[in-house]
Amino acid sequence: MTTDSIKVLELKGITKTFGSIIANKDVNLDLYKGEILSILGENGSGKTTAMNIISGIYTQEEGSIYMNGEQVSIKSPHDALSLGIGMVHQHFKLVDIFTAAENVLVGLSKKDYKNIINKNGEGNKSFNVKEAAKCIKDMCDKYGFELDPNKKVYNMTVSEKQTLEIIKALYRNADILILDEPTAVLTPQETAHLFNVIKNMKNDGKSIVIITHKLNEVMEISDRVAIFRKGRHISTVETSKTNIKELTDMMVGEKVDLEIERSEPKNVEDRLFVNNISVKNDDGRVAVKNVSFTAKSGEILGIAGISGSGQKELLEAIQGLRPIDSGEVILRNPKENKPATFFHKTLRRIKELAAQGAFHDPDGNPINFKGMKNKEITEMVNEGKVLFNEDEIVPLKGKNPLQIRELGIRLSFVPEDRLGMGLVGSMNLIDNMMLRSYRHGHWIFLDRERPKKLTQKIIEELNIVTPSASTNVSKLSGGNVQKVLVGREIALAPKVFMAAYPVRGLDINSSYLIYNLLEKQKCDGIAVIYVGEDLDVLLALCDRVMVLCDGEVSGIVNAREVTKDQIGEMMTRHGEVQ
Ligand SMILES: Nc1ncnc2c1ncn2[C@@H]1O[C@H](COP(=O)(O)OP(=O)(O)OP(=O)(O)O)[C@@H](O)[C@H]1O
Ligand SMILES: [Mg+2]
Repeated sequence: MTTDSIKVLELKGITKTFGSIIANKDVNLDLYKGEILSILGENGSGKTTAMNIISGIYTQEEGSIYMNGEQVSIKSPHDALSLGIGMVHQHFKLVDIFTAAENVLVGLSKKDYKNIINKNGEGNKSFNVKEAAKCIKDMCDKYGFELDPNKKVYNMTVSEKQTLEIIKALYRNADILILDEPTAVLTPQETAHLFNVIKNMKNDGKSIVIITHKLNEVMEISDRVAIFRKGRHISTVETSKTNIKELTDMMVGEKVDLEIERSEPKNVEDRLFVNNISVKNDDGRVAVKNVSFTAKSGEILGIAGISGSGQKELLEAIQGLRPIDSGEVILRNPKENKPATFFHKTLRRIKELAAQGAFHDPDGNPINFKGMKNKEITEMVNEGKVLFNEDEIVPLKGKNPLQIRELGIRLSFVPEDRLGMGLVGSMNLIDNMMLRSYRHGHWIFLDRERPKKLTQKIIEELNIVTPSASTNVSKLSGGNVQKVLVGREIALAPKVFMAAYPVRGLDINSSYLIYNLLEKQKCDGIAVIYVGEDLDVLLALCDRVMVLCDGEVSGIVNAREVTKDQIGEMMTRHGEVQ
């Protein structure tokens, strides 16, 4: 606890259910003036729900809320705001075509505005954009935000949008600020900046609640940590008196083993060749410059780099979602048991090749035609009994994403906005599964058994918390939505599997589930490409790591030999160093 230990907010016995799901059960929680409280808990443990109750989005069925010792009734976001509670959600609620200043004013009635300025004792302020812009500027100076009040939201980075959401809450005089996984979408630099701002707000007497799955952030920023497990508030501890291991055990309710078992690569074959490709980003700027690498079956290739160094554009280009300006991408697709024909080879050539051991019979035994007459050989060939294995060389450039997917190249990109990509919130899990997997043929609408089974399998393998496979995705907690997204792609047994930020927003247990799943893919002979943020994980999980800096490869290194410092240095160094 900090400063003068005034309890600004207190939850007593809060319970909230959604049908048969108990999202919060008898939650007691307090928040003091001028403190930073972290909320920690596995995916689906009720963190967001509890905060949504405080900010008036949901109403509890049981229990009460007190502010500064007095019971309050919070029935709408409007009520929460007038009590000085502001929340920044994972999905921003901004108007794209408006500027920052315009967004600050959106939704305020004349009466709200009067209340705001009265509270500030600034009765002469007029309700206009210019005034709001000035106010934003003042807040930037005061707390250390960086935001141009006249910038339109559609031109803003994710971090700027988040800043605007915070400023919007502060403009409404929020004394309690709730941030739901604010760092899940930020680069390490942006996170450091946000933490500075948060500390400044704390010093100004504000109380901040921050939900995060990143334990090192909890240790770094918070005064106290509240732990949720299965809808209950388990305990609140002082950060300085605990450690990561203890927090993890409390969160999970049992001892957890955080080990990635990395196997030695087996049956390694070159699978995907990326040769000197250059790709532009949405603004037409070159985001990937002359990148070359080979992804191999039976191996995990990690891609490290500061977020925004071209990772997204590179993977999208491979998947056919973005044009390749120069260079090529080639898949070496192993094809077994192709029959030899006279259309391609003469009898003489076929005999020569047989002597070199190129052919086998349908049982897999070698054929050498020894002692056989030409007529007999010809018959055997014509009957399709002379077989050989040959890799198909397939250039991917110019193919559309669907064609590329059908060749077995699958991308799971966990975006900043999880519901924005690849999942339809208003559809249930099975339908979302069918969206991707069952495009072929007419039975897409007839046979629901296969997708149902697949969905069931993913729910079990990834421990997805959902009442059933027919629950709408929008009702799942953030992390569970994401497990659906990743599980769907993995379930399709690809040849090349590209996973970008698959553990964004996942709790620690689920993250290890995903790492172990990627390891399993590798053992099954799939070429895995993993784009991650956590260097410790990259080094423990991958076999090789390619480091990108500003769209260029600064090196491809052996993950078993390189150090974190070396990778860190390569992340900011231009040009190849090998
Ligand atoms: N609108 C809703 N309708 C039905 N169920 C819901 C709704 N919102 C949340 N739930 C359920 O309540 C439980 C708690 O969800 P909540 O979003 O609070 O979890 P969380 O701790 O924030 O998880 P995460 O870390 O994954 O974001 C989950 O089982 C979730 O599926
Ligand atoms: Mg949540």
